[in-house]
Amino acid sequence: MIEKAVSSYKENGLSHLVAKGPRYLLNQMLSMLVSLPIIDHIFFWYSTRDLEGRMKEEQNLSDILDTTGTYFDPQGEYRGAGAYKSLQPIQTREEISEMAERAKSNQPSTVIEIGSAKGGTAYIWSRYLDTAETILCLDMNFNGREKLFDYFASYSGKQIFCLEGNSHADRTKNRVEEILSGEQIDFLYIDGDHSYQGVKSDFEMYKPLMSNEGIIGMHDVENQNTGVPEFWSELEQEYDCEKIPQEGESGVTGLVKINES
Ligand SMILES: C[S@@+](CC[C@H](N)C(=O)[O-])C[C@H]1O[C@@H](n2cnc3c(N)ncnc32)[C@H](O)[C@@H]1O
Repeated sequence: MIEKAVSSYKENGLSHLVAKGPRYLLNQMLSMLVSLPIIDHIFFWYSTRDLEGRMKEEQNLSDILDTTGTYFDPQGEYRGAGAYKSLQPIQTREEISEMAERAKSNQPSTVIEIGSAKGGTAYIWSRYLDTAETILCLDMNFNGREKLFDYFASYSGKQIFCLEGNSHADRTKNRVEEILSGEQIDFLYIDGDHSYQGVKSDFEMYKPLMSNEGIIGMHDVENQNTGVPEFWSELEQEYDCEKIPQEGESGVTGLVKINES
């Protein structure tokens, strides 16, 4: 920190150091404080008390989405703190609710999502997919939020696994197979690496682990800032594919029915 102060002084002068230094120091102290286990424990306690109250009241999908809010409609009721501050899925309310309805009607027992971020979609699967017994969440980095995933999934009677790693690594896939121990995936939700090669790899690596009647949700099939639309147009040539909703302001979710006999 002292080295940083000296180099800032040399580069920008004393007045800059005096103006910016105290705020920098305060931020450093705050982030050190927040990373203390006791503080994390308090944040977790506070967040789960709030969430438990909301889960007790949830009767239907609309209530579940009222708890989380969404990235594009951020008025969620859940009030968390620290690492557990938000449960917003990065979705429009319309697309995630339609996806959740479709997934539910397929009665999945085993669910895998690639790309969990803050846990918004994992929360919805846990709370709404009543036939789901196992939910496996894959992400490069859970940032210490696994405890919250465990909390809401076990409250909902599900077994949840948070697997940290690159979905494209053989090591990750091997670990997925170990966790599944012979069970097949009924619902696969792909929302991780949005490059063309990234979604293609996720699809090709994990589809062979799916049941014949399984379905795959793929986020952002219309998001032209990503490589997903290009791969989606290839899937449309080969599979029974549908966009939900048909058109949307966000990226639109693609639904692929495997239906292999
Ligand atoms: C768009 S966010 C997921 C949002 C989440 N499904 C939701 O709506 O609540 C994408 C996530 O994918 C993760 N990710 C990106 N590439 C990945 C990869 N190759 N393997 C695993 N996770 C990945 C990122 O860390 C990020 O948290």
